[in-house]
Amino acid sequence: METGSRLAALSLLFSAVLSPCVGLVSSGEIDPLLYEEQLLWVSGAQGEVNTYRVPLLSFTPKGSLLAFAEARKSTAGDVGAKFLAMRRSTDKGATWSPTTFIVDDGTQPDGLNLGSVVVDEEVGSVILIYSMCFHLYHCHPASTMMVESKDDGLSWSQPRNLSVQLGVKNFAPGPGFGIQKRYEPAKGRLVVCGHGTLEGDGVFCILSDDHGRKWYNGAALKSIPYNQKKKAQDFNPDECQPIELTDGSIVINVRNQNKYHCQCRLVVRSTDGGLSLPVEGLYFDYTLVDPAVAAGALQKDGVVYFTNPANEQHRINLTLRWSVTDGKTWENKAVQIWAGPSGYSCITSVDSGSPEDRKFIYVIYEKGHKDYDETVSFAKIHLFGGR
Ligand SMILES: *[C@@H]1O[C@H](CO)[C@@H](O)[C@H](O)[C@H]1NC(C)=O
Ligand SMILES: *[C@@H]1O[C@H](CO)[C@@H](O)[C@H](O)[C@H]1NC(C)=O
Repeated sequence: METGSRLAALSLLFSAVLSPCVGLVSSGEIDPLLYEEQLLWVSGAQGEVNTYRVPLLSFTPKGSLLAFAEARKSTAGDVGAKFLAMRRSTDKGATWSPTTFIVDDGTQPDGLNLGSVVVDEEVGSVILIYSMCFHLYHCHPASTMMVESKDDGLSWSQPRNLSVQLGVKNFAPGPGFGIQKRYEPAKGRLVVCGHGTLEGDGVFCILSDDHGRKWYNGAALKSIPYNQKKKAQDFNPDECQPIELTDGSIVINVRNQNKYHCQCRLVVRSTDGGLSLPVEGLYFDYTLVDPAVAAGALQKDGVVYFTNPANEQHRINLTLRWSVTDGKTWENKAVQIWAGPSGYSCITSVDSGSPEDRKFIYVIYEKGHKDYDETVSFAKIHLFGGR
């Protein structure tokens, strides 16, 4: 009996010690609540900007939040000249700095396109990778560009042309975030994934093992028929969001551009730190119905979160889903963030050591009443129903 109670005391001690370290959350605990929401950008409201689109959201190593968007100067379309707009919050999204334009592409006929934001927690930098001339519209060639901040997003470097290292290729990162590997294999590696166009379409990842100084080409998941004009329902993996699972594998949630096999997301996994994306690991997630759009994904404390306009045809119904099985199954109780027009989205969370940080995730998304590109909205989600 004495041994038994000692064992019980020991196991109690162990669970008390272990659970906060592992930090896994069980399915019943999660009950997401739309806690606060505010518009960060309104299209047409600012003199030099016609439309804000393609929002990205990131944490910083110091616990701030950074929001980015393309500020399309004179049209709503993907081509044309743009600013890269940023706002910064040091109080978990309660208040935001005024908009600053951290890159200005001038009068380019086919200017910058976002993009992927990646945080290097080992050196405390935030890196933003974007493309120039992605559509080859009155310009040549396409370039992959990078800017970097070493002071929590306050100032940014001059753009650096990564095509010099990577070779010239159409590569549109994200849109969303890139990851720094937290687990083996390749702990510390920066992994940024994106897609190509007709001159190399599919999903591709670029990698850096030295905090963003040198970049090289990693995994590829090529389209079929590769580099040829596509028909409806061809295999055409497009915009994508990678996350790292706690087993060290990278799972990439991908826009299924030509609706191959289903009107839903396609998912592919890398177990070698982004060097390869074997087709054996590819599947279609029928629960995640999708109109072909850029979606948000995040792994936090062992739970996978996913946002998209959950509708097979239209960009409406922005919905948050979550999974306690690494995305193999999704909880039935999805949360609708916005019923109306909604487009691209991106999810992040902060970990500044405060227990409060375990309770929230943050979503940025395109939101409107008539069209999804009317505003960019920031939503703070309480994961435990406000408790
Ligand atoms: C980037 O570098 C590539 C390869 O050297 C070059 O072809 C391209 O013109 C450069 N792009 C920019 C925007 O400087
Ligand atoms: C919105 O998403 C939810 C969850 O996937 C789904 O049950 C519902 O049918 C969707 N509504 C519309 C109008 O797409």
